[in-house]
Amino acid sequence: MNVQKINNGTKLVNAKKIVADAFKNKYAVPHININNLEWTKTVLLTAQSENSPIILGTSEGAVKYMGGYNTVVGMVNGLISDLKITVPVVLHLDHGSKEGALLALEAGYTSVMYDGSHETFEINYQNTKEVVELAKKYNASVEAEVGSIGGEEDGIVGDGEIASPDEAIKMTKLGIDFLAAGIGNIHGPYPTSWKSLNFDALISLSKACGIGMVLHGGSGIPSDQIKKSIQNGIAKININTELQISNAHAIWKYVESGEAKKGKNFDPRKLYAPGIKAMEQTVREKISELGSSNKG
Ligand code: 13P
Repeated sequence: MNVQKINNGTKLVNAKKIVADAFKNKYAVPHININNLEWTKTVLLTAQSENSPIILGTSEGAVKYMGGYNTVVGMVNGLISDLKITVPVVLHLDHGSKEGALLALEAGYTSVMYDGSHETFEINYQNTKEVVELAKKYNASVEAEVGSIGGEEDGIVGDGEIASPDEAIKMTKLGIDFLAAGIGNIHGPYPTSWKSLNFDALISLSKACGIGMVLHGGSGIPSDQIKKSIQNGIAKININTELQISNAHAIWKYVESGEAKKGKNFDPRKLYAPGIKAMEQTVREKISELGSSNKG
C-alpha cells in the first residue's frame, strides 16, 4: 500500500514581508480573528480562492476557548497542509500580554501583538522592547500599540487615546514591524452616533513611524473610510465582529425558519452550514475591499 507521508512541518510565515508589501503598494492584509475550526477553515479556503495573504488572529481568550496554544497551532498547520493552502498564512496573537507572547511563540505562532495600551507609555515601551527581543529568536513579527483604541458601552463611545507622533517614533525604533494606534476606531459595532476615523491623527502617526499601521475595529467602517485609511498608511486591518454577525444572522435565520428542526438537520455539519456560507461571503467582500486579492 502506498501511504502518503503526512507533512507536520509548519508552512506558516511571519507577517513582516506581507505587511511591508501591502504598505508599499497601498492595500491592506486582512487580519481575521478565528474562533473555531469552522471559522479557520472558511477563512483559509476563501483566502486561497482569492489568492490573498491572510493573518489569522487569536486573542488570549479565543486561545483559551479553543483549548490552548498547541491546539490552535496544530489545527492551523493541519488545515494548511490538508487543504493545500499555498497563500501566505500568519498565525498572530492579538492583544497579547508578555506571558501570552512567550507561550504563543513557543507553540509556533509566527507573529505577536504586545498590547500595553492600558499601561503608561514608559511601561508599554519597556515591555514592547522585551517582546521584540524575544520574537527575534523565533523570527516572528511584532505589533505594538500606542495610545489606545476606543470602545462602546451603553451607547456611549470612548474615543480612545490618540498617541503623540513622538511615541510612535520611539516605538518604531525598537524594531517592531507594524503599529496599532487609536484613531477614533472602536472594537465591536459602531454606534449610529459615530462619525469618522481621525484621519489627521492617522496621517501624522503614519508619517512619524514610516511603517505599516494597523486598524483595529475594522468591522462596520464605511468602505470609503477603509480605502482612505489604506491610502494614508494602514496596511493591516483587524476584523472580528463582522464575521461573528454574519455567522450568527445566518444561523438565526436557519433556526427561525424551522429548517433546522427538519429531518436530520440536527447534524452539526448541517446546522453550521449557513453560518459558514455567510462567513465565506463576508471574508470575500473584505478581501476585495482591502485590495488584497491576487497579492498572495
Ligand atoms: P472588530 O471586532 O470591531 O472587527 O475588531 C477586531 C479587532 O480589532 C481585533 O483586534
